[in-house]
Amino acid sequence: MKKTVFITGTSSGLGKLTAIRFAELGWNVAATMRTPEKETELSNYDNIQIYKLDVTKVDQVQSAAEKAIAEFGTIDVVINNAGMGAYGPLEFAEEDAIDWQFAVNTRGPINVIRAFLPHFRTVGGGMFINISSFMGLTTAVPLGSLYNMSKFALEGLTEGLYYELKPLGIDLRLIEQGGSKGTNFKEGIVWSKNANINVYDGLMEKLLQAMNARDDDTLDDPKIIVDAIEDLATRRSNQFRTVVGKAGNDLMKLRNSVPIEQYLETIADNFS
Ligand SMILES: NC(=O)c1ccc[n+]([C@@H]2O[C@H](COP(=O)([O-])OP(=O)(O)OC[C@H]3O[C@@H](n4cnc5c(N)ncnc54)[C@H](OP(=O)(O)O)[C@@H]3O)[C@@H](O)[C@H]2O)c1
Repeated sequence: MKKTVFITGTSSGLGKLTAIRFAELGWNVAATMRTPEKETELSNYDNIQIYKLDVTKVDQVQSAAEKAIAEFGTIDVVINNAGMGAYGPLEFAEEDAIDWQFAVNTRGPINVIRAFLPHFRTVGGGMFINISSFMGLTTAVPLGSLYNMSKFALEGLTEGLYYELKPLGIDLRLIEQGGSKGTNFKEGIVWSKNANINVYDGLMEKLLQAMNARDDDTLDDPKIIVDAIEDLATRRSNQFRTVVGKAGNDLMKLRNSVPIEQYLETIADNFS
């Protein structure tokens, strides 16, 4: 029987490519996004159905889940991909930006998971694939504490849920990616700043340099991330956590090989 995947954040980047990959594999795809009226590419596929969904809006999440279940009967895999970054000194972050970071990257997946649990219980199983980051497993840069917080929380949520969903035959997987070519992630970052206080300016400059140095030559090919997602959804891989890409794997090697104090100093030195 034809399988169905439900994906959040398919207007760009990894979400869009994942929707296309599964459509090309012959799956039904429930592709969700905040602004379906702007979509022109995914609508060309007969087996992609587009739904409006802002992951922070519980009623929209519920409604999109209900519509997709009504359309396709069974949803096999749900991919929590939607995400954004709030960067800059914590001291200067707008209250709204702090809440929004958590609302999209952590509360969003909670909303989506809760919307699908009754369905997965009824059909006797299913899989959630949560798109995290190596920034969910370790720190990597200064001025990224809010993003780290949101993805570390997503990791804790996913790992904690394992025990209550395993007896129900519901699987959880995490993708630890490090950013790939062709996404809108950098452009979408919400920065905190205060023009009157300059104590963080040096760090900010170094962070921007590091981010800008990650261009098409150094960023991962999104294909390897979509391959990893496909391997999980089709059960070619049953890894709980999949670290994808060179940057993430190099960093995790370092993180796992030295005490945390040494790791923190190494990263801090990179930005001093
Ligand atoms: N690129 C990186 O450096 C990087 C690194 C590690 C992990 N990640 C993670 O990978 C995932 C995919 O990001 P990407 O790299 O493909 O970047 P992207 O091109 O910016 O894609 C992010 C997607 O999330 C959507 N989104 C944002 N807020 C949303 C909300 N409230 N409700 C629903 N959708 C929302 C965006 O939709 P709109 O068009 O409506 O904004 C967009 O479709 C994210 O979870 C991100 O945190 C990215």
